[in-house]
Amino acid sequence: MPPRERTTGERLSNLCDIGVDPRCWYPACRSDELGPGQAREVRFLGRSFVVFRDGQGAVHCLDNACAHRRVALHEGEVRDCRIVCPYHGWEYGPDGALARIPYWEEEAPLPRLRVRSFPVAERSGLVWFVPEPADPLPPQPPDTSRWDGGEWFSFRQDRVFPNHYGVGLVNGMDYTHFHLHRKYQPWSRLRLRDLETDEQRVFGSYEVTSGHSRAERTLRMLLGSDRSASTVTYPLEVYYDYPHHHARLGDGMVVWAFFRPEGRDRVAVYITLYIKARRGTRRLRQFAEPFFRRLVLARIQEQDAWIGVREQIAWETRPDEPRCELNPVAAAAERLLRSRWQAYVEEAGPPDDRWPGVRLAHGAAR
Ligand code: FES
Ligand SMILES: [Fe+2]
Repeated sequence: MPPRERTTGERLSNLCDIGVDPRCWYPACRSDELGPGQAREVRFLGRSFVVFRDGQGAVHCLDNACAHRRVALHEGEVRDCRIVCPYHGWEYGPDGALARIPYWEEEAPLPRLRVRSFPVAERSGLVWFVPEPADPLPPQPPDTSRWDGGEWFSFRQDRVFPNHYGVGLVNGMDYTHFHLHRKYQPWSRLRLRDLETDEQRVFGSYEVTSGHSRAERTLRMLLGSDRSASTVTYPLEVYYDYPHHHARLGDGMVVWAFFRPEGRDRVAVYITLYIKARRGTRRLRQFAEPFFRRLVLARIQEQDAWIGVREQIAWETRPDEPRCELNPVAAAAERLLRSRWQAYVEEAGPPDDRWPGVRLAHGAAR
């Protein structure tokens, strides 16, 4: 890290009190987790949504509460392009309008009722939704199609972490935390080269140098580097494109992490790691893939989940004590996260009623 002045730290408000701007695209589920005729509950900042795929393959998203007695809809049946409440069988169309009541007299007009509907999109193998649509809608969700298939291997590592979104996001941007993963750390030196920020994005450019430890040799093999050189240096670029994250290592490794904050202590993260398949190593890698997944990736993720809970506890029990963040990338990511929430609250008003999950622990979704 570049030298900085000695610091006594910064007093920040409790990170767990910070929400996310609900006017962005958030992942609801993987596309292949939602077959035709299926529905799922999706939680976001303490509220419950239902996504369902109709018989024609189109996906829809509604508030997960029947207009009749507010029973959740996701356990109901999908019939053609409608979702049917499991209690009295009221049916809602893709736009959330009440379309049928099974016991209603045919000649009588239906009550004009609806549940809220939300914009949806399918992209990068995910179903996306906007929890609080504004006009205009945000640009399309991120596109990962250039890494899907072809010359790239992909490893999905989706997980619900029992910690706040900000804890996970800063972890992803802060590569100094590889002390936690030191057994798997594939470099022996990390240097920050550049940092750019604006109100949408943080871009950090690190440089890593790999030598000859087992993890470092594995990385060099994966990236197809010269084996005879004593050390090899790679660029490591990390991006916080609010509210999601991605990173690239050399020209052969990319990771995307899409976040859906569910409450102050719970975040669903859809993670895909891509590794370029180099000539001559494809067969070997197909063979090694399950081991790599189980013995390296899963363990690293386990460590992140473990430390996430520890940092959550640290925020909740010592919210007023200073933090001495010395990595400018981590500090910038946290600043952006806080400022975007601040801007949203100033524009949209106090969030408590609309987004109770900012305050409440998991289990309070409604
Ligand atoms: S509660 Fe949904 S139909 Fe009655
Ligand atoms: Fe980590």
